[in-house]
This record gives sequence, structure tokens and C-alpha cells, in this order.
Amino acid sequence: MFYDARKNDHGLPHDPFKAILAPRPVGWISSMNAAGAVNLAPYSYFNGVCSRPPMVMFASEGYKDTIAFIEETKEFVCNLATFDLREAMNETSAPHPRGVNEMERAGLAPAPSVLVRPPRVAASPCALECKWLQTVHLSDVDGNALDRHVVFGQVVGVFIDDRFLRDGLLDTAGMRPIARAGYHDYFVATPETKFSLKRPTEP
Ligand SMILES: Cc1cc2nc3c(=O)[nH]c(=O)nc-3n(C[C@H](O)[C@H](O)[C@H](O)COP(=O)(O)O)c2cc1C
Repeated sequence: MFYDARKNDHGLPHDPFKAILAPRPVGWISSMNAAGAVNLAPYSYFNGVCSRPPMVMFASEGYKDTIAFIEETKEFVCNLATFDLREAMNETSAPHPRGVNEMERAGLAPAPSVLVRPPRVAASPCALECKWLQTVHLSDVDGNALDRHVVFGQVVGVFIDDRFLRDGLLDTAGMRPIARAGYHDYFVATPETKFSLKRPTEP
């Protein structure tokens, strides 16, 4: 099949776009506003964009609390969402009124960050402490301004739970990170689904 994405005329019961662009890492983003209120929400239009210096991005479909808080204080933390934390992660996506602390609501303990003010999720095995770099406000191919915003941040501090460091390597599969797919689906990384490939130029 083929469909015209601008008409969205796929004729399927649900839009397949997110099921194609999958699995996506989940940036579980904690932020704080100028008054010190804490916010936590998952974003799967999320990824790293470079490693030196390490930088990340996430996209907000609508001007949500996370982006509003980040633009106030210019800091945020990307917590790793894991299989063990999946229910709490999902709970933090509920559309609470601005000012409600989703971390508290989901029964998650905060832990202080080192280089930024927003706390990390204590139970998450990795957290990237970020400073805001810029927000790109998107327009479509016809030049229409959209309520779609991409935030870029530089990672200035990295928390790793030492239990997942083995012989100097981070055991990603051991943390069982979850990744978002389409519909209500997710994937989980496990040792069984891991494989390795050396780049052609490597010995
Ligand atoms: C796994 C998952 C991934 C999500 N990814 C995004 C995303 O990339 N962009 C977005 O705008 N909303 C996304 N959402 C929805 C937001 O989490 C939801 O709108 C939330 O209430 C936003 O919270 P905030 O207003 O506190 O920032 C996602 C939800 C879930 C469960």
C-alpha cells in the first residue's frame, strides 16, 4: 500500500506512522518551573543528536508543561524508562493540570541532580542532566506555523547506577529499557534481543 501523508488517506483504522518509526527510546523528562514546581512526563519523539558534546532532543506536540517549565528555567533531566518502571512511566503521561507533580502522583521518589535543579527519578538507572540550548518551532511544507516544538539540550551531567556497569561497559539490556512503538505497543531490550556488529572500518 501507499498513502499520501498530507491527506492521511491510509484507510487503516489507526495511523501507522508511529508503528513504522519504532521502537523509539523514551525520554522520561523531569523539569522544574521558576517557582520550583516539579514536572515529569514521557516523550518518545526523543533521541540523542550527537555524542561530543552529548546532546539530546525531544518534540512536543502542543505547548505542554514540560516545554513550558524548561523554557522558564533552561534545565531538564532525561530519565531512562525501564520495564520495572513502565506503569509509573505511563501514569506520568496523564494530563494533570499544570503544577501537579507527576513524580509524587506516581509514587516515585525524587533524587537530587548534581548539575541542574530538576530532580531525577531515583529508581531510574540512568539520568541525563541537560541544559536547554534552543527550541525550534516547526512549520509544515506549506509554511503554516504549527503547535509543534523541538527542544534541544546539552547533556552536562550523567548519572549511572553502578550496578549496571560491568567491566567498564554499561549493560543496557540488563537495565531492560523500554521503547515506544505504535498504538499501545512497546518493546523491551533484553540480553536475548541484543546483537553486535562491527563497522566495516573497524578491526
Ligand atoms: C510513552 C509515551 C511517549 C510519549 N511521547 C510524547 C511525545 O514524544 N511528544 C508529546 O508531545 N507527547 C508525548 N506523550 C504524551 C505526553 O507524555 C503527555 O501529553 C503528558 O501529559 C505531557 O505532560 P506535560 O504536560 O507534563 O509535559 C507520550 C506519552 C507516552 C505514554
